[in-house]
Amino acid sequence: PATAVSDRQRADFVVVANRLPVDKETLPDGTIRWKRSPGGLVTALEPILRSHTGAWVGWSGVPDSAEDPEIDGLQIHAVPLSTSEIAEYYEGFSNATLWPLYHDVLVKPEYHREWWDTYVEVNRRFAEAASEAAAENAVVWVQDYQLQLVPKMLRMLRPDLRIGFFLHIPFPPVELFMQLPWRTEIVEGLLGADLIGFHLPGGAQNFLYLARRLAGQATSKGSVGVRAKFGVVQVGFRTVRVGAFPISIDSGDMDGKSKSRTVRGRAEELRAELGNPRKILLGVDRLDYTKGIDVRLRALSELLAENRVDPDEVAMIQLATPSRERVDSYVQMRADIEQLVGNINGRYGSVSRPIVQYIHRPVPRDELISFYVAADVMLVTPLRDGMNLVAKEYVACRSDLGGALVLSEFTGAAAELRSAYIANPYDLEGVKDAILSAVEQDPDEGRRRMRSLRRQVLAHDVSRWAKSFLGALGADTEVSYGPNRG
Ligand code: ADP
Ligand code: F6P
Repeated sequence: PATAVSDRQRADFVVVANRLPVDKETLPDGTIRWKRSPGGLVTALEPILRSHTGAWVGWSGVPDSAEDPEIDGLQIHAVPLSTSEIAEYYEGFSNATLWPLYHDVLVKPEYHREWWDTYVEVNRRFAEAASEAAAENAVVWVQDYQLQLVPKMLRMLRPDLRIGFFLHIPFPPVELFMQLPWRTEIVEGLLGADLIGFHLPGGAQNFLYLARRLAGQATSKGSVGVRAKFGVVQVGFRTVRVGAFPISIDSGDMDGKSKSRTVRGRAEELRAELGNPRKILLGVDRLDYTKGIDVRLRALSELLAENRVDPDEVAMIQLATPSRERVDSYVQMRADIEQLVGNINGRYGSVSRPIVQYIHRPVPRDELISFYVAADVMLVTPLRDGMNLVAKEYVACRSDLGGALVLSEFTGAAAELRSAYIANPYDLEGVKDAILSAVEQDPDEGRRRMRSLRRQVLAHDVSRWAKSFLGALGADTEVSYGPNRG
């Protein structure tokens, strides 16, 4: 049974996110099991919270569950959502309105007033849960596009709190954001925070413009820098800071794991299972239309058709975690991708060896690392992505300085990973050229590139991300964090 918050110690550091760091699973025999959730957000915050005496407020991933699972001493406060709230707040407003709007309108955002009403209602419930969980003067860190109204709602409930907000997805160009019927409410919701963080300076600058234009606030006009040079919005007597904090991964942990004998052995085994092809290409994504899985499949298909890639020498693995499976655009995209895989294998594969191995389920962490170690070319080709942690994970796993990264210029990661083979995913010829350069790269050139990529990823890890955000929030003296603390 859930423990009442009043019976528990109130936390002085609270993370509020749509997802809990675990998903509830009901097995066919009715037993319940808690499983780690997919996605970059959990991956990024888990190491920080594990070393922390904090609380996490979020949704369990299933309808009507108010149970508070305890994991490794971390206080969990589940926010229950009904089936219709999941349909309207999560699948609807979050993932069929905001997600496509913030990702360059890759599919047409749907604007429904009932979805908006439910988004407001559910944001209010998250704000109330955070207010209950937080001790006097606590630091509360609200995450992502599902909860953009929480900062203002929480400030009204608890003016003593210090509130941060971080957006994990791109903040769109002003012209696109202006489509949103509730644009002013969203901007005002975010302005309830003391610090609003984006991955890139461009997102911060778009937001500053909108705070002037839609909320009528006075703002700084100078440019915003990375982890420095913050923008400022004056909201009455309060000063809201706006900054760019590119997220990262627990690079040291991945680097270490990738060197283990078991992982190396498994990587060898994977290569052998594929028939030891000359080159292995790898894609690792949530099955999402923003990820450009179709782009890389089309590029490979054309390279095979043009005899620029030999089907006997190349194998591609596409790991695709199921995601948002009840949202129409995801159902459609899955069918398209599976058809593309079928086409390539039908045309160029043999009975014993298909060209593309497609795995539509999440892969355990150690197994995933073995895939990274085994892959000669990592294909990261999103049409738009806030950051893309997969690109950073691949680099962190290549202490051997082997491998090559093909990276879309429309990912946040491209701003940092300049030594990748950068490509415009809308330019299929360019993507094909980038893949071919990566497949055929000279080993010395490859090592030079990988060394430079690794310098960036190992120096800027998730703990540095959290430190820079919490430091800017002014929380560094009250909150201790970091995966390797003490
Ligand atoms: P997003 O947050 O949009 O899902 P990111 O690339 O930033 O995209 O983060 C995805 C995270 O999910 C990474 O940590 C990655 O390792 C993990 N992941 C993605 N696909 C799989 C998969 N098929 N199996 C296991 N983990 C996966
Ligand atoms: O990074 C964006 C994000 O939506 C996170 O908020 C989320 O944890 C992850 O992708 C996975 O998406 P979902 O929670 O919808 O399965």
